[in-house]
Amino acid sequence: MSAPRQSRERAEQLRRQIEHHNHCYYVLDAPEIEDAQYDRLLRELESLERDYPALATPDSPTRRVGGAPLAQFSAVRHRLPMLSLGNAFSEGDVVAFDRRVREAAGATEVAYSAEPKFDGLAISLRYEDGAFVQGATRGDGATGEDVSANLRTVRAIPMRLRAALRGSFEVRGEVLMYRTDFAALNERQRAAGEKVFANPRNAAAGSLRQLDPRVTARRALRFCAYGVGFTGDARLPRTQVQLLDRLAELGLPVARERRLVRGVAGLLAYYRELAESRPGLPFDIDGAVYKVNDFDLQEQLGFVARAPRFALAHKFPAQEAVTEILDITVQVGRTGALTPAARLAPVFVGGVTVASATLHNEDEIRRKDLWRGDRVVVRRAGDVIPEVVRVDKPGPRRAADRFRMPACCPVCGSPVVRLEGEAVARCTGGFACAAQRKEALLHFAQRRAMDIEGLGEKLVDQLVERAMVDSPADLYRLTIEDLQSLERMAQKSSRNLLDAIAASRGRPLGRFIFALGIPGVGEEVAKVLARHFGTVEAFLEADWGALAERKLELARENAARKRRGQRLEARIMEGIGPELSDSLAKFLGAAHNREVIQALAAAARPADDASAVAKGALGGKVFVITGTLPALTRDQARELIERHGGRVTGSVSSNTDFVVAGTEPGSKLDRAREIGVRILDEDGLRELLGQAR
Ligand code: IVH
Repeated sequence: MSAPRQSRERAEQLRRQIEHHNHCYYVLDAPEIEDAQYDRLLRELESLERDYPALATPDSPTRRVGGAPLAQFSAVRHRLPMLSLGNAFSEGDVVAFDRRVREAAGATEVAYSAEPKFDGLAISLRYEDGAFVQGATRGDGATGEDVSANLRTVRAIPMRLRAALRGSFEVRGEVLMYRTDFAALNERQRAAGEKVFANPRNAAAGSLRQLDPRVTARRALRFCAYGVGFTGDARLPRTQVQLLDRLAELGLPVARERRLVRGVAGLLAYYRELAESRPGLPFDIDGAVYKVNDFDLQEQLGFVARAPRFALAHKFPAQEAVTEILDITVQVGRTGALTPAARLAPVFVGGVTVASATLHNEDEIRRKDLWRGDRVVVRRAGDVIPEVVRVDKPGPRRAADRFRMPACCPVCGSPVVRLEGEAVARCTGGFACAAQRKEALLHFAQRRAMDIEGLGEKLVDQLVERAMVDSPADLYRLTIEDLQSLERMAQKSSRNLLDAIAASRGRPLGRFIFALGIPGVGEEVAKVLARHFGTVEAFLEADWGALAERKLELARENAARKRRGQRLEARIMEGIGPELSDSLAKFLGAAHNREVIQALAAAARPADDASAVAKGALGGKVFVITGTLPALTRDQARELIERHGGRVTGSVSSNTDFVVAGTEPGSKLDRAREIGVRILDEDGLRELLGQAR
């Protein structure tokens, strides 16, 4: 049914009024009506659009409550790249910047646009014929994510520009959250038991990157424009200051704290003024941005790498505050690292209240000479974790106030060791340590590891606390009844989780090895190991001590060959250095870790790495070499075997297929005879490979 003219006109009028009040409130910061009146207008429009759906235009302010959730964001290629800015941390840097600009301009004094550096996240808005059509995050500068649905909920972003600009017009600016809105949001999150955000910037980023625009709509995001991207045929002013004025005329919010200044003196005066007004601003800023005002001169200056030569970000120094160390505690991480942290008397610094700071490790505490009860200087810069800079005034410093790394893990009681050459102390409990257990399970289940969907923090907490899961292998024994006994687990979600656990069986070996959470073994290293060993059994059997030693020998040999200008010997496993071999040896040397891995492999049945097992005549056969061979060095023999798809391990067991023995063989040969493993000499090996001597 088409709407009567009266309703159509009323809807049009309401839309214009509502956008006008949005503009007054969000752009001019000067509301003309009460919130309740505004709500009445919005409700009237909603009801008209309900009665006559044809009236609900895509740019209607009623759409700002958020549409249907998305499965994912699609990629948007920026027509013009979104660049970054060079940084200045001192007046000297600014003086040098101005000198470079003046030299290029051949001028004695240059005019700049000075603006706040907003601490939010950069976005690009595209308008077509004056109507908002798409908005994207910066991404890597070339390609961002399409967050249009979310940006529609941001009332400070006009859905229609106040002039009918023809064609494409891109506005660039920053999405941010006011400090008061941030505090209110965290209050709500806390009350609802949801994640609280560290600062307004994180809250803004988290809110904008929501797949459900209805969540974004409740998040009070703001926007401030600072420039343009692709602007097609639009006739625009030729200076930055005038451009910002023009953007304001088009209905876009721009910083009130923008100025035209002259010369380096003007820049530095602006910086001081901005620093003074900083605490009173409703939003966070982290410095000033200076841009050459004249666009012709900007073009002449051009770019270096990915930053313009005509602009500079002059950062505020990291913020500091003084507070007291109430205690020094130790946290145990996923890999068993014991990290000391200072519990602080809460103090407001850099826009957030800080109550703890990492102290990194024992040496750091000694170096800074930190004791419980000391008054200390705490620093927070941008996004980084707060840190204790130095002692401001020592406390009473009784013997008990001195920090000592505990000899036993505060979580599981296992001995703590600090390996030679390492800065961190570690718990030796492995999977037996509850601190590591939770983290180890989360790591095990994560997408890039075994990818068990739905096994998140809350579930892992419950499973570990109720002793239902001690090691990852236990996951595969869980029943539907077990899961239903947990909080917030109905039949359907329990079923889904069981299915997800079952589906994680048979993942590639590389992912399985990565999932084990061995210190230092990331995704790439895990893949290398999988390709090298091919099966869990071969991986567990490897003689890491010998391997580490051979790597060292090889490194020495290669160094010598390099000096002599000779070709280098092949490397054993790309990317696995002596420290990593050492870590692997220690982890796999602990009996309880081996047991867990064996049980886990039996339960999760990872797929063998076909490239290692299937390739070559030897098809994954396991060899042990002992003694001195007549023509081949051990390395050459190993290489030969591996090239043909076999594997060489360090010790003889029931899994060994062949022992290759030379003169003066060790006990390995005896062992091979004992358990009936086939024994070959060098010729026998060549025969097996079908190679004549
Ligand atoms: S202009 C070609 N102006 O800073 C220069 N950027 O390092 C493009 N930023 O992520 C940026 N306030 O989002 C410009 N007044 C301002 C800014 C500003 C904050 C951010 C921007 C970008 C980063 C550049």
